Amino acid sequence: MGRVARFTPHRAATHIASNGEKAAGWTMTGIAFLLNGTPVRVEGEGPTRTLLDFLRETRGLCGTKEGCNEGDCGACTVMVTDDKGSRALNACILFLPQLHGKAVRTVEGLSGPKGEMHPVQEAMVTHHGSQCGFCTPGFVVSMAVAQMNGRRDHDDVLAGNLCRCTGYAPIIRAAEAAAAAPVPDWMQADRKALASFAADAGQDDTAFRPSNSDDLADWYLAHPDATLIAGATDVGLWVTKQLRDLALVAFLNGVSDLQQIERQGGMLHVGAGVTIAALRTAVQDRLPSFAELLRRYASEQVRNAATIGGNIANGSPIGDGPPALIALGATLHLRRGDDLRSIPLESFFLDYRKQDRRPGEFVAGISFPEQAPGLRCYKISKRFDQDISAVCGCFNVTVDAGRITAARIAFGGMAGIPKRAAHVEQALIGQPWSEATIAVALPAFAQDFTPLTDMRASAAYRLETAANLLRRYVHDLNGSPVSVLEVAP
Ligand SMILES: Cc1cc2nc3c(=O)[nH]c(=O)nc-3n(C[C@H](O)[C@H](O)[C@H](O)COP(=O)(O)OP(=O)(O)OC[C@H]3O[C@@H](n4cnc5c(N)ncnc54)[C@H](O)[C@@H]3O)c2cc1C
Ligand code: FES
Ligand code: FES
Repeated sequence: MGRVARFTPHRAATHIASNGEKAAGWTMTGIAFLLNGTPVRVEGEGPTRTLLDFLRETRGLCGTKEGCNEGDCGACTVMVTDDKGSRALNACILFLPQLHGKAVRTVEGLSGPKGEMHPVQEAMVTHHGSQCGFCTPGFVVSMAVAQMNGRRDHDDVLAGNLCRCTGYAPIIRAAEAAAAAPVPDWMQADRKALASFAADAGQDDTAFRPSNSDDLADWYLAHPDATLIAGATDVGLWVTKQLRDLALVAFLNGVSDLQQIERQGGMLHVGAGVTIAALRTAVQDRLPSFAELLRRYASEQVRNAATIGGNIANGSPIGDGPPALIALGATLHLRRGDDLRSIPLESFFLDYRKQDRRPGEFVAGISFPEQAPGLRCYKISKRFDQDISAVCGCFNVTVDAGRITAARIAFGGMAGIPKRAAHVEQALIGQPWSEATIAVALPAFAQDFTPLTDMRASAAYRLETAANLLRRYVHDLNGSPVSVLEVAP
């Protein structure tokens, strides 16, 4: 139990000494993990050295390819295993300290001890799933992880792996064929090996890697200029694309108390360190439209790394999490030292990339109702999978006896911040639930938003789309098919 109870301003008696002094003089030594079954200890690398560069430049493991170096193509996919299981991650935006105490398996580590091919490798050959072969190692690793985890949603699992020559049908056929094969024994080796390896990997004086939020709170208060790194799906690009040198960093992926999801009193309390993948599972049954939005959030590899805390803290006007959470009436929990405060999520976003966050304060978690029958989330992007929203509209209207009694409508991509459509909401509340009411409310969008034109969409397109999404919402709640996957021409 930490000093500050989760999301409540209670301070327990236990005092954990500040790690500030230790962290001030840290050196990047001693990251330990299993690499294709063999323990490695990495010393003398910078804290933002990516796994991809490490594999290719120092280990000669060049099967892991560099395509985009920004998490978009999946050519660098590796399998990472820890006590939560095995998942596919993009090595190009994965920093070495994020791997401490875990097991990494690259494409070179997929075949058996006697050189036997993995079933997905065999299937790719049989089904002609490769031409130039550049994308193939990434596909094969994604497919091997899916095969091990019993996944059958091949389109979703492989949406983050891009191929320019083969075409996806043979690759999906290979994935389907491999799914029917037994999981090879050797693929269980990492889990077994970690049981003894994790014990001696321990903590060390490396990049600051707190294991609980009390230590994080003390350290961040002492180092408010430091960069917090959670899943690194944004921060990774600052390093690989903007070539930024991050002077002082703390890695949040070991802070276990920020990775909890609790259900209490009809609410879901989600720690900042919960991944998008885990959040999607948590909301699947009771908030299916939110889950569907998260299915289209980036790719399997990115969802396995990205956290909801990072998605909120980065303050992006086109992030997918905030509009849905604002429509749900979510409360954001922020912690600075031992001060914990809770605010409505929408009030966190002040201006473009400016949030209500004090120096040394971090996002601790978010709470929202676990059910909302009227919630619908619509993501409009140029590409169906693995694309950033041009417009993301989330609607949560309550209708009682044919009349609208409450309305929360929030958009991404329509302003410099994720923002509620306050005038539209006011035009709806108290009115009958009908297409006529909607028609009267539509002009209010122009009062709420003055969107920008950029490479994703023009201002006029955005405004018209927002209005059309409200129209779509009425049909959706009335039970008509509205998804592009359902509507027949
Ligand atoms: C290929 C690709 C596709 C993407 N697609 C989408 C998409 O479809 N939808 C979408 O919304 N986003 C998308 N993103 C953006 C990104 O995945 C999200 O913003 C993500 O949620 C960030 O979370 P993270 O844990 O990786 O954050 P990080 O990169 O680790 O951090 C992001 C920012 O938040 C800060 N931070 C992290 N955690 C905390 C905390 N607890 N308290 C305070 N500050 C914190 C960091 O210091 C940093 O400023 C995509 C990114 C990539 C690379
Ligand atoms: S190189 Fe493209 S996702 Fe990593
Ligand atoms: S086989 Fe050439 S990119 Fe996929």
